[in-house]
Amino acid sequence: MDRIRITGGNELHGIIPISGAKNAALPLMIASLLTDDTLTLENVPHLADVEQLIRILGNHGADISVNGRRERQGESYARTIHFTCRNIVDTTAPYELVSKMRASFWVIGPLLAREGKARVSLPGGCAIGTRPVDLFIEGLAALGANIEIDSGYINATAPTGGLIGARYVFPKVSVGATHVMMMAATLANGTTTIGNAAREPEVVDLANCLNAMGAKITGAGTSTITIEGVTSLSGARHRVLPDRIETGTYAMAVAMTGGDVILEGTDASLLDTALEAIRRAGAEITPTETGIRVYRNGGGIKPVDVVTDPFPGFPTDLQAQFMGLMTRSSGVSHITETIFENRFMHVQELARLGARITLSGQTAKIEGVPRLKGAPVMATDLRASVSLVIAGLVAEGDTMVSRVYHLDRGFERLEEKLTRCGAIVERVTD
Ligand code: EPZ
Repeated sequence: MDRIRITGGNELHGIIPISGAKNAALPLMIASLLTDDTLTLENVPHLADVEQLIRILGNHGADISVNGRRERQGESYARTIHFTCRNIVDTTAPYELVSKMRASFWVIGPLLAREGKARVSLPGGCAIGTRPVDLFIEGLAALGANIEIDSGYINATAPTGGLIGARYVFPKVSVGATHVMMMAATLANGTTTIGNAAREPEVVDLANCLNAMGAKITGAGTSTITIEGVTSLSGARHRVLPDRIETGTYAMAVAMTGGDVILEGTDASLLDTALEAIRRAGAEITPTETGIRVYRNGGGIKPVDVVTDPFPGFPTDLQAQFMGLMTRSSGVSHITETIFENRFMHVQELARLGARITLSGQTAKIEGVPRLKGAPVMATDLRASVSLVIAGLVAEGDTMVSRVYHLDRGFERLEEKLTRCGAIVERVTD
């Protein structure tokens, strides 16, 4: 099993190309099930989760071809992938596939809308929490679907004649349930209004792509989304938006090590709240023509309190990385996690590097320390594992991160991107 060895101490200087967003690419790929025409996605990142979803979509009947090509955007291997699902050959998403990647559960929306039925395994919990699916069930039921849970599967069927547009207000904001309801409603009879919808940029990206396919969606990016149902969707060509979580992660890495880096091919407006927190911690951040410049010279890292929230709040997917940064601040900071109940698995691993963190309920108190010391640590989930990399970049000596398959799910060529900016990061294959 691969591990990553980081030898701390070097500043970061150079250019880091930002990849297409994993969390936009996944729902966009799933949207290809809504049409018998070809959906072409550009700027798709090369990640384990994308490869897994390619297998899952293939299982439903999608024909998928990949054109790798080097894009100008730095040295990024953004890929263009064509998805054509002439016929849905199987409306079941089995446990063996759904249990490997939670987002694959989202196929329930397109399958139900296009075929009138779907049998999808319940995804179960994961390292960051129990992660129920009640909001999906209620949302789809509001569109007229009959839903039964049987032997670990959700059996969903649409009424004869298809799903029916409705007004539904989510009791809690959910990115995935917003994606699914929006996809399902594109082919429903009549108009659907989703209240308390997720406002994440990835929801907007999906709505833009669905509209390019012929859907009639307005309001994406606000908390009320309106979808006027159409009888069919066509193919389209769509470019996946830049990864705001990867952007924020590298911005925090630079804030941690000091140095001067251009994050290329990204957009500061995707993560205003997080960038503001990094600025308050002492880094300078300025937009450039091709992305953003992050630099910190001289001054130390200041303590900053953050609370995670749905967009436009501070993203839960950057919580662990920000905690990594705060381990070296010159004072005491507090980080409160409000989205997932168990997203603090990195705390004990950061402590192995010498961090001083105490947990009280959903809040971590971080007392900054003058130095961290390299140690063997274990990745527990995708974002937790990259927080260990950020800490490792300044830790004295070697930090060896095991279980790096978590990192490979969401960070494209991480060691190469960091190494090119002067870090000493090496993948070790046993
Ligand atoms: C998406 O997950 C992202 N995944 C997550 O990123 C991200 O952390 C999360 O949104 C929040 O921003 C993808 O986009 C593939 P939610 P999702 O439904 O959609 C509760 C990463 O590291 N909830 O918005 O699954 C849920 O338990 C991943 O890239 C219900 O209670 O998250 C959580 O507390 C991890 N019932 C809250 O809502 C439901 O039916 C928000 O979850 C659904 C969700």
